Amino acid sequence: MADYFMHAVQYDAYGGGAAALKHREVGVPSPKKNELVVTVEAASINPFDWKVQKGMLRPLLPSKFPFIPGTDVAGEVVAVGVGVNKFKAGDKVLAMINPFNGGGLAEFSIVKDSITAHRPPEISASEAAGLPVAGLTAHQALTHLDEVSGRQPNILVTAASGGVGHYAVQLAKLRNAHVTATCGARNIKLVKGLGADEVLDYTTPEGASLSSPSQRKYDIVVHCATGIPWSRFEPNLSPSGKVIDITPGFGTLLSYGLQMVSFSKKKLVPLLLNPKGKDLEYLVKLMKEGKLKTVIDSKYPLSEAEKAWAKSIEGHATGKIIVEP
Ligand SMILES: NC(=O)c1ccc[n+]([C@@H]2O[C@H](COP(=O)([O-])OP(=O)(O)OC[C@H]3O[C@@H](n4cnc5c(N)ncnc54)[C@H](OP(=O)(O)O)[C@@H]3O)[C@@H](O)[C@H]2O)c1
Repeated sequence: MADYFMHAVQYDAYGGGAAALKHREVGVPSPKKNELVVTVEAASINPFDWKVQKGMLRPLLPSKFPFIPGTDVAGEVVAVGVGVNKFKAGDKVLAMINPFNGGGLAEFSIVKDSITAHRPPEISASEAAGLPVAGLTAHQALTHLDEVSGRQPNILVTAASGGVGHYAVQLAKLRNAHVTATCGARNIKLVKGLGADEVLDYTTPEGASLSSPSQRKYDIVVHCATGIPWSRFEPNLSPSGKVIDITPGFGTLLSYGLQMVSFSKKKLVPLLLNPKGKDLEYLVKLMKEGKLKTVIDSKYPLSEAEKAWAKSIEGHATGKIIVEP
């Protein structure tokens, strides 16, 4: 399909933030084995996207320059590669793009059939585009709920107003957990509306302490904020409580290693998303049934993708930031 051209957003080097994004006409990619080409109806921005641009995953990512960022898309299949059986041209889908390939901020993207799901008409393209990275991360963090049995689990979600956090609150409630959540004052009503039982304003001393107003000790913390030390979590955990750190740095890895060798029951556990097609299908089913929703912070046309990028870098999104070609 390289004879056809499309509008895409690219960057040519590490760094530069939103100002370094360029709007270009590039060839429409062709599908290889087990790949589909979709016309993008909506994409969402994740902090991962601009962290890669910053060079936080160098030298692994991006795999090449110029690079089209963007890993979450919803759209319509226009062509399929060999070996694709589940999808055909005309199908509405959502997908998580292989981060090594990127390509979401464009009119057409390549996605793998294994991490693509059908999108039913009940779910809009923008709601669907919010789901892959953030929804799958929330779901994966909550698999640790399986370790709590015989009583209602107590969960803390930090940064519950963000992309991952707002799905985590809803998914934890669907699993019958008691949910304490942290967010800023402006989002308390929204987070309660998503189902949180108790909400702490993280800018107050009570919120910063992370203590549950009902004196609960947390079995699982889905930690979506950054910069909170282990010493703040530790007194708030149940005897086998785990903090699932979705932004693990060197300190988390060190703590995890030390806790493993000391056989500590309370743990700080690093999480790296391992996306699975069946999990994406599960989340789509919940959304179709009206049990899970995407809160949309803002929408930008592809021609203004740099505004969406800058908004994500600011770190104050409520839910997901969407880009529409
Ligand atoms: N490990 C993985 O595979 C993986 C996958 C997905 C995401 N992540 C990482 O997870 C983190 C969260 O991602 P995201 O998409 O949810 O981010 P996001 O949508 O940009 O989060 C923004 C939200 O976080 C809130 N917030 C910021 N600091 C807070 C704090 N200390 N306490 C409570 N709320 C706070 C902000 O509220 P205010 O506006 O009120 O400040 C805002 O609503 C990022 O670092 C991302 O890179 C990792």
